Amino acid sequence: MAKAKNNLVFFCKECGYESGKWMGQCPACKAWNSFVEEPVVSDKKSQAADKIRIPGRGAAPVRISEISIEDQDRTTTGFGELDRVLGSGIVKGSLVLVGGDPGIGKSTLLLQVCRNLAHSAKKVLYISGEESLKQIKMRANRIGQIDGELYFVSETNLDMISGSIEDVKPDVVIIDSIQTMYREDITSAPGSVSQVRESTNLLMQIAKGLGITIFIVGHVTKEGVVAGPRVLEHMVDTVLYFEGDRNDTYRILRAVKNRFGSTNEIGVFEMQEKGLIEVTNPSEMMISGRPKNASGAVVSCALEGTRPLLLEVQALVAETNFGMARRTANGVDFNRINILLAILEKRCGYAMSRYDAYVNIAGGMKMNEPALDLAVAMALVSSYKNREVDPGMLIFGEIGLSGEVRGVSQASQRVAEAIKMGFTTCVLPKANLEKMKGESRIKLIGVENVREAIGLF
Ligand code: TYD
Ligand code: MG
Repeated sequence: MAKAKNNLVFFCKECGYESGKWMGQCPACKAWNSFVEEPVVSDKKSQAADKIRIPGRGAAPVRISEISIEDQDRTTTGFGELDRVLGSGIVKGSLVLVGGDPGIGKSTLLLQVCRNLAHSAKKVLYISGEESLKQIKMRANRIGQIDGELYFVSETNLDMISGSIEDVKPDVVIIDSIQTMYREDITSAPGSVSQVRESTNLLMQIAKGLGITIFIVGHVTKEGVVAGPRVLEHMVDTVLYFEGDRNDTYRILRAVKNRFGSTNEIGVFEMQEKGLIEVTNPSEMMISGRPKNASGAVVSCALEGTRPLLLEVQALVAETNFGMARRTANGVDFNRINILLAILEKRCGYAMSRYDAYVNIAGGMKMNEPALDLAVAMALVSSYKNREVDPGMLIFGEIGLSGEVRGVSQASQRVAEAIKMGFTTCVLPKANLEKMKGESRIKLIGVENVREAIGLF
């Protein structure tokens, strides 16, 4: 640890990077002006919390065959969407971080999880440092009847909280939020990097030591003095981010890190008057409200973890008024759009450099999948020619620099989703078509290069 003379060090508020001197830009996460001065946590003091022993720590090494896993180690949250993101349920003794912008619905989601768990005979302790018991009750009234062993504490002192946990002995604990919690032995203010870090450390000891699953809420902070949830990403087992437009009712829960399951998984929820409900068919939601007879709109199928998701790719190509053509990409990689435009110019003869191009994924999804290339290119050409693409057509495929259409993974799953959602035609890479002969429920058109695909309409 880099210690300054006066026992102060600088931390990056974004990622927790530690430095002996102030820096304008964080070398780790590249954030600007994110360094704050905080007292050093003395090693002696932070060990005071080490009284909880993690089972198996300090014992002799064991053979892997001797470690037993019990079936009950995973519990369902009552939300299929959340279970999948977590990797089929909550793992006993794990530490889960739920991050997201303030007001996105983290507290609501976790309160609903608590309710479901209490209904399935689990003991749950909800610790709120942000709301009073009355406020929690008001929220609870909105989401419906709660029975069972669900306990609430309004407290921010972690030493007291660890006492409550030992008294109640719950199966699941919710800490809402980590930025409001503090430990007495650490001198800096709640929400500072050292408090957030050391508090998480203590919670980790409790989770592993007592076999309790702990959910930690972390607000994503744009600016200000509060440390962001990235500071503790490396300490927890699972990192989930709750995303979405606050003005829209749809919310996406995304696993960024998961020691017990796959990342890339998403869960889709809708915020309603009575709390969050699951959206089990997100494809329907993503392509609802499609414009009729409009050029520049193409439906494609992306994969989010194990799940196919239909998306509407929109493009607008308009003659440029200035010397330099403008390009904008929403939800897709900006550089990828530039590459696709260059391919259309060089390989297909469209004078794209004289046109502004705007690409957008409807519904606010962010997608970095090469399988969307062909749909983006088709949307651009459709807008350029001002000619509509058949609304019953689904398009996917990766495009290489010489304009060739390359095969993508899980093509049959994507086609199955297209069939499920009532599409009549699917344009896909020829390489994928070969393995899908015999599919009669949808018309499949295999293409080898972009020109061939453009020739279809
Ligand atoms: P909240 O869970 O308090 O957000 P966070 O904990 O992430 O800061 O969510 C608050 C928003 O959700 C608030 O704007 C009101 C809305 N909401 C509903 O629309 N329906 C509901 O049933 C509840 C409880 C909240
Ligand atoms: Mg909250």
